[in-house]
Amino acid sequence: MKEKSLPRLGVNIDHIATIRNARGGDHPNPVAGAWAAIQAGADGITAHLREDRRHMRDDDMNRLQALCKSETIPLNMEMAATEEMLSIALALKPHAVCIVPERREERTTEGGLDVAGQIETLKPIISKLNKNGAKVSLFIEANREQIEAAAKTDAKVVEFHTGAYAHALDEGNDVKANRTLEDFRLCAALAQSYDLEVHFGHGLTFENVGPVAAIPECMELNIGHFIIGEALFMGLDAAIKQMREIVTEARQTA
Ligand code: PXP
Repeated sequence: MKEKSLPRLGVNIDHIATIRNARGGDHPNPVAGAWAAIQAGADGITAHLREDRRHMRDDDMNRLQALCKSETIPLNMEMAATEEMLSIALALKPHAVCIVPERREERTTEGGLDVAGQIETLKPIISKLNKNGAKVSLFIEANREQIEAAAKTDAKVVEFHTGAYAHALDEGNDVKANRTLEDFRLCAALAQSYDLEVHFGHGLTFENVGPVAAIPECMELNIGHFIIGEALFMGLDAAIKQMREIVTEARQTA
């Protein structure tokens, strides 16, 4: 059987910092976590610098960038489209920047970015990031309107929000989950037709990642909360390796 190309596995380490911040101090250290994730075979490290610094802090980002550079592993900085974050990203120079919506009161990034509704605000931000060498990704819901808007910017990537799919499965609503998966397949092909690279992320687990990883256009998966949570039971190394095995198997047998 011909080997199929595999999606890259980006490990989001925000929640190592969440645990550290619960007590203050420096333990567990997210940079040490990133190093362990790289040793376990992560293809990239993802970290979200939020406006309220609830997990990552500015100095974490600096140290993550230094680590990723020395290990030649891409750092993907997630950020809101604000002037403050733009100037931090321009100084940091991560390999990639994923622009996400951010609301202070939310527990996590609960929906996709409304690119269609703020295209003129996003364009100059994306353009500055591009000129600075970052690969810019837009975290959107999988629908035509948002993809077509993303294609009108200079972003190179769209990351489809998989939260609704994950929730549907958690609620036992297989019909909705399958409908969402079908949307992912159609939208992945549409995005590729606009030369947008396709990533997926949010709420992915050992149980639900397979059908997403099997989508041929999927070039990258960004997974955090589940891997860090599972690491409590099986260790970070084993959790990342198991995720990688499931992703590989799903893609190879698709
Ligand atoms: N991708 C993006 C753009 C995110 O903002 C996040 C975190 O919300 C993730 C992926 C990872 O999601 P999770 O922690 O649920 O795996």
